Amino acid sequence: MSAVPRHIVIAGAGQAGGRAAEALRARGFQGMVTMLGDEPHPPYERPQLSKDMLGIADTPVTYIKLASDWSNVLDVRLETGAPVTDCDAARRTVATADGRVYAFDRLLIATGTRPRRLTLLENLGIDVQYLRNVEDALRFRKSIRDKSRIVIVGGGVIGLEAACAAAKHGCSVTVIESEPRLLARALPSLVSDIVATKHRSHGVEFVFGVTVSGGTSRSVRLSSGAEIQADLVLIGIGVEPVPTVAERLGLPVTAGIAVDACGRTAAPDVFCAGDAALQWSRCHGRTIRVETWANAQNQAIAVAGNMIGEQNEYLDPPWFWTDQYDLNIQVAGDMLDSEHVLRGEPASGRFSVIAMRGAHLVGALSVNAAKDMAMLRRLLAANKRPARADLESPSFDLRTALK
Ligand code: NAI
Repeated sequence: MSAVPRHIVIAGAGQAGGRAAEALRARGFQGMVTMLGDEPHPPYERPQLSKDMLGIADTPVTYIKLASDWSNVLDVRLETGAPVTDCDAARRTVATADGRVYAFDRLLIATGTRPRRLTLLENLGIDVQYLRNVEDALRFRKSIRDKSRIVIVGGGVIGLEAACAAAKHGCSVTVIESEPRLLARALPSLVSDIVATKHRSHGVEFVFGVTVSGGTSRSVRLSSGAEIQADLVLIGIGVEPVPTVAERLGLPVTAGIAVDACGRTAAPDVFCAGDAALQWSRCHGRTIRVETWANAQNQAIAVAGNMIGEQNEYLDPPWFWTDQYDLNIQVAGDMLDSEHVLRGEPASGRFSVIAMRGAHLVGALSVNAAKDMAMLRRLLAANKRPARADLESPSFDLRTALK
């Protein structure tokens, strides 16, 4: 890697791109920073799209910084509406769709992910929506104010937060989930069931173990043969990495863009952070992509430092939260393929579940128990091995295990 870079280009102006640009300046980098984003907006955080912006009030989007502050305060050249469409690894250049070319000494790929599409519904005349950017959120907000009949495909975080907002607005909501339970990728079945019960108490219906096989301009047909009337269909069946920049650089994009603990890809002077980065996770015991707010911020900050010569290994256990009605659910690490220790009483509506593999703590989940989660995240990050008997006693002070 060449000594001190003069020009850093950030492909992608989402949360990871924005936080990396800020971090470069905060760490004293004085060279040029150019950030290229395909959206017409300066960087913003995405949790608001499925939470605050879908509430009853007309909440506007909040940006990390105003467009003018990127140039005036941080001296970052931000180009919006400028998707990177080409790269030249040998010449060290990237080009945007309008033909402009930018030379870099170091490049950060922060182009993230895009929704997996359900194309078989897209040309039937029915309103098909996704929820990934500001325009999607504004469009969906308008739809739920019209009290539509909504079918949501996917009982993951997007589908359920959207279902929650739509139900609050008085829509009729049916969620189609191909797995036999909700959020199967992140939650144990005990908590999936609690989430389903909560949604049902707000009128949301579920159909499990089926997929969509077709439809008409007013309905969705399921693999079971059933047909559900709908004014619109919201698709939330997961995301996939945006491959363009990596592919143009000759980097393979399989489950994601492979990086080491410092965020370096296999291409010289090219780094990656955020949703698309495929990185080793101790909790999971394999490489994973981490599609969370915390990762988009903290991994990007660590990697930005590495782009200017620091050696920050980013090892934070993954962590996300979801708010649905009066449930605040937080998940850290990996809850699958492990033994579970229950801390607190589920019937009380406030409890935690701790995931262990042998003596190792590998995951934690809290339901309306944010204080517990704050400590459990610290235990996970410190790779502590608390005794199981201690963990399952709600009177045991988790701080003791940190010492
Ligand atoms: P997801 O992976 O959380 O959920 C997708 C769901 O769709 C899964 O339950 C899966 O079993 C189901 N599914 C897949 N194919 C299907 C099909 N053909 N028919 C029916 N069901 C199908 O992804 P989601 O909800 O789309 O979220 C997208 C991204 O946004 C993720 O990266 C997520 O982490 C992020 N996000 C995070 C939030 C948070 O941290 N609170 C909130 C909202 C989104």
